Amino acid sequence: MDTQEIMARGQAFLAGTYGRAPVAFTRGAGTRLWDSDGREYLDFVSGIAVCNVGHCHPKVVAAIQEQAQRLLHVSNLYYIEPQVRLARWLAEHSFADKSFFCNSGAEAIEAALKLARRHAATRCGPQRHEVVCMENSFHGRTFGALSATMQPKYQEGFQPLVPGFVSVPFNDLPALERAVTERTCAVLLEPIQGAGGVNVPDRGYLAAVRRVCDERGALLIFDEIQTGLGRTGTLFAYEDEGVEPDIMALAKGLAGGVPMGAMLARDEVMAAFTPGSHASTFGGNPLASAAAFATVSVIEEEHLVEHGRKVGAYFAAGLERLGEYFPRLGRVRGRGLLLGLELPVEGAPAVDACRQRGFLINCIKGSVLRFLPPLLIQEQEVEALLTCLHEVFTELDGLR
Ligand SMILES: Cc1ncc(COP(=O)(O)O)c(C=O)c1O
Repeated sequence: MDTQEIMARGQAFLAGTYGRAPVAFTRGAGTRLWDSDGREYLDFVSGIAVCNVGHCHPKVVAAIQEQAQRLLHVSNLYYIEPQVRLARWLAEHSFADKSFFCNSGAEAIEAALKLARRHAATRCGPQRHEVVCMENSFHGRTFGALSATMQPKYQEGFQPLVPGFVSVPFNDLPALERAVTERTCAVLLEPIQGAGGVNVPDRGYLAAVRRVCDERGALLIFDEIQTGLGRTGTLFAYEDEGVEPDIMALAKGLAGGVPMGAMLARDEVMAAFTPGSHASTFGGNPLASAAAFATVSVIEEEHLVEHGRKVGAYFAAGLERLGEYFPRLGRVRGRGLLLGLELPVEGAPAVDACRQRGFLINCIKGSVLRFLPPLLIQEQEVEALLTCLHEVFTELDGLR
C-alpha cells in the first residue's frame, strides 16, 4: 500500500482518537525512519520517548528473535526467567527492591496507585486514601491515571472520575504543604513534567516534597515513564538531586519499542501487595522481558546515559542560540534529551514544516516544541535539526 491508501484505510477503519500526520513509517534503524514512499527522516520523537536505544537496535532485535523462537507467553502462574533477570537488573540499578510488570505507562500508574492505597489502608485504615497530584500532570488515560492527570482537556466528558484525587500547582511548596494531610496516602508527580509542557521544578523542590511526605506519613510516587531510562541525563531523573521515591512507574523506553510497563518499590512498601492483590496476564511476559533486558543492557554497555547527557547539553545550547536570531522564542526547558522550546505562535506549522524537510519533532500544549531523540543521537544530527529549525522559524509568521 502507498501512503494515500494507508491513510484512506486508516480513516475508514481506525477509531478517531489520534490526530495523525499524513505519513506512514515502514522501516527504522537507529535515529532514522523511512516512510511508505521511501523518504528518510531523522527522528527527534522516538515514538514519544520510547526508542531510547534507537529504532530496531540489533541487540534488541536479536533478543526478540531468540526469545520468539523459544517461548512467547506462559502467564504469571509460573516463574519466567527473562522477567526475573530484568527485575534483578532494575533492583541493582535503582532505589527499589521489587518490580511488578505490566504493559503500558497507564497500567504502571494504576499499579502504583493501588499499591499506595493498599499500603495506607493496611496500616492506617481506608480514610487515608487521597492522592495529591500536580496541575499540568500527565499520567495516562485509564480511569485511575486519568483522575490523576490534572489537565481539564483530558478529563472532559469522562466524569465521574475516581474519587480521592487532589490537585496542587506544580513547584508550589506551600500549596503542597496545605494539601498533604492525614487523609493522604501518596503524592504523585513527574520529576520533570513531560506532556504538561516540559516543566522542570526549582532545585530543592523534590527534596522538599520528600520531606513533606515523610513528615505526614505519605508515600512519594515518581512517574518516570517519560523521564526514566536515561532520557534526562541520568538513568532515572530522581538521581539528579538524589531524591528517592517510595514507588516509581516506568514504561516507554523500558523495552526498546515492545509494550511494557513496570511499577517498582522498596520491599516494605511492595509487601502491601500479596497474591491476588493485583495482576496482569501479559505483564512481564517472556518476549517483553527479553526485549527489556536487552534494552537496558544496551543502555549500560553503550554508555547511552552519559552520551545522551552530553549531546543533550549541546542540543540545549544550540536551541538557546536560536533565541539570538528569534528573540520571541521562550527559554529552553528540560534536561538531557527531554527538551522543550516554547514558541510565541502555534507549534503545528513548525512541526509540519520540519517533517516536510525530513525531521520529526513534536508539539505539546499547542505551542511547546518537544524534542525526544534516541539517546544515541549524534551532535551532527542535532546540528542538522538546528539548521532546519532556523530555516523553518525564518519562514514562520510571528517569530521575529
Ligand atoms: C509521564 C507519563 N506518564 C504516563 C504516560 C502514559 O503512558 P501510556 O501511554 O503508555 O499509557 C505517559 C505517556 O505519554 C507519560 O508521559
